[in-house]
Amino acid sequence: EWQYSLRPRHLREYIGQKKVKDNLDIFIKAAMSRGDALDHVLFYGPPGLGKTTLAGIIANELGVNFRVTSGPAINHAGDLAALLTNLGEKDVLFIDEIHRLSRNVEEVLYSAMEDFALDIVIGKGPSARSIRLDLAPFTLIGATTKAGSLAGPLRDRFGVISRLEYYQPEDLVLIVKRAAEILQISIEEKGAWEIARRSRGTPRIANRLLKRVRDFAQITGDGIITDEIADASLQRLEVDRMGLDHTDRRMLETMVMKFGGGPVGLDTLAAATSEERDTIEDVYEPYLLQLGFINRTPKGRVVTRAGYEHMNIPYPEA
Ligand code: ADE
Repeated sequence: EWQYSLRPRHLREYIGQKKVKDNLDIFIKAAMSRGDALDHVLFYGPPGLGKTTLAGIIANELGVNFRVTSGPAINHAGDLAALLTNLGEKDVLFIDEIHRLSRNVEEVLYSAMEDFALDIVIGKGPSARSIRLDLAPFTLIGATTKAGSLAGPLRDRFGVISRLEYYQPEDLVLIVKRAAEILQISIEEKGAWEIARRSRGTPRIANRLLKRVRDFAQITGDGIITDEIADASLQRLEVDRMGLDHTDRRMLETMVMKFGGGPVGLDTLAAATSEERDTIEDVYEPYLLQLGFINRTPKGRVVTRAGYEHMNIPYPEA
């Protein structure tokens, strides 16, 4: 899944997210000119928007090592201690899905982030004592799909908190063309736009669709991605004109057909669609909200008029 060759290595190669990028550029330069480690950074936003890529770029721009792990992979406080004690001066430690750290692991992280120190308890019972182990100053970069589910004390320890947004089609076109060049795929301008418009504002999806459309172009065409080839391929992949995939449409359809367009709660929708609650919340819902096809109300999610229209179902007038 790590697309080493497609991932930009420098901030100047990174397309889109202008506000985030411009600020990071300043923070990186300032920290470097002071000779400090960069303050801890938290990225949040839907999956596939480039949180890991940005973290890698930061480490590369700082000229330090990039260590990667994830919340669910750190099972014991000792696992985290091992990672932290192996970091070099100013290195970057990236923790993906940081909202999934366990309580006791999270607590070890607090003093590590704040004081670059580990408090370790040795022994058990009355003879137990705590020793403090100094760490090299480092930068923690955390990534999460939901900033809201981070414990307050953890959130407060990040000096930089940046939200990644869905990409504009203009930026996705540039991303598709860049990937096509690296992968030596022939693509026409209109073909790139077709893929860009139908990628849910998400570079990871754009790059995946580019590769699949290339397959169709190669076997059913002359290898060149035109807008016709892109459209035909995306139809076969069940990606519609707004970029909704089969599951996105199933969400809308279930809300309309089984719940009269809502309001319906997340857990109810999860049960009715056999999708995980977290996946609906992190992946499907944000894009449907962004398109204005659903709304959040205190009683649950409702399908909007635009949502009905997209599904070609008459809107029930009150
Ligand atoms: N590939 C995936 N995301 C990208 C981005 N934001 N800029 C450049 N290339 C990318």
